[in-house]
Amino acid sequence: MDRGSKPAVLVTGGAGYIGAHTAKALHEQGYLPVVYDNLSSGFRQAVRWGPLVQGDIRDAAALGEAMAAHKVQAVIHFAGLIEVGRSTVKPDLFWEVNVAGTTSLLQVMREHKVERLVFSSSAAVYGQGARSAQQSIAEDAEKAPSSPYGDTKLAAEWMIAAQCRAYGLAAVALRYFNAAGADPSGLIGEAHDPETHLIPLAIAAALGEGKPLTVFGQDFQTPDGTCLRDYIHVSDLARAHVAALGIELRAGAFEAVNVGTGEGRSVMQVVDAVAKAAGCQVPHSVGARRAGDPPSLVADPSLARDLLGWTPRHSSLQEIVADALRWETRPAYGKGVRASSGRGSSPFTSSAD
Ligand SMILES: NC(=O)c1ccc[n+]([C@@H]2O[C@H](COP(=O)([O-])OP(=O)(O)OC[C@H]3O[C@@H](n4cnc5c(N)ncnc54)[C@H](O)[C@@H]3O)[C@@H](O)[C@H]2O)c1
Repeated sequence: MDRGSKPAVLVTGGAGYIGAHTAKALHEQGYLPVVYDNLSSGFRQAVRWGPLVQGDIRDAAALGEAMAAHKVQAVIHFAGLIEVGRSTVKPDLFWEVNVAGTTSLLQVMREHKVERLVFSSSAAVYGQGARSAQQSIAEDAEKAPSSPYGDTKLAAEWMIAAQCRAYGLAAVALRYFNAAGADPSGLIGEAHDPETHLIPLAIAAALGEGKPLTVFGQDFQTPDGTCLRDYIHVSDLARAHVAALGIELRAGAFEAVNVGTGEGRSVMQVVDAVAKAAGCQVPHSVGARRAGDPPSLVADPSLARDLLGWTPRHSSLQEIVADALRWETRPAYGKGVRASSGRGSSPFTSSAD
């Protein structure tokens, strides 16, 4: 990509958690991040490093206008629905937004001759399958999503790969493991509603701001019996997107790349790290396993290193938890807002504005 004149990158879902961190990383590397987001779960306050175009990815006309107006050269596609549990009761909605929405985006990219895409995929495409809890996951591992959410991520990947072959698009699907932490500036951070991710829930429990934590299952074939996950600092994840934009790819190429550390951390290790950082216990109880929770999801990150030249720098559990704790104790936006409004587009009061 020509880096001479601040190339514009359309960041769908750039008002959300990972998109906002990536917009910051793009800005720092000399790109102009143009955020395209319907604010259904994102925040205006998280858009700080380039313009915001409010629109839906299923609205092809609005997408096309944004691409033309900003002379977009590449797209990073985060926009979508992410709650695994909700996907089991509204699978049609997840297919409509995550799969049909991606089809709409690809069609508009083709019309506007935008030939480079980085797509937010997920370790959810793997599920547990026949893999043992001790095995890390390489990109060619069996794909056995255990939720409609994972199905939509895999289906979107397949469609992107097919369109690369058919139309000469070049794309990288980054399969994130567990995104966590927050930008150390405190300007942006994780603000999902409902929050289903372990670290913010453990912090809320420790600070007495949320319910006591439920640990779902302590009878897995793992060292302490709780699930193993691969936590990746969101700033490291953001850098992986910038790296994926910059690599040489021939027209028609499609690459799927794991973004993780290669280290599994158990739920109880996370609980202990939060207790240590917060200086108090994390009230918790042990509940039953959740349906479809794989015992272990740990990346083999070799391809990210070899293809993207990327390795994590800030993904020790201590650094992730410290940055998450800083954000959760002083969030610049998010807390309590959606409970009353139900929308991400409401006015906020924020010290960071
Ligand atoms: N958070 C994780 O640990 C994780 C792990 C694996 C993959 N992912 C993927 O990363 C992406 C971003 O996740 P996140 O955690 O930042 O979620 P998020 O909910 O914070 O961000 C998603 C953004 O997309 C926007 N959006 C949703 N539907 C839209 C639509 N139809 N049109 C336009 N904008 C729309 C939302 O307003 C929001 O700003 C998702 O595609 C998700 O599947 C996330």
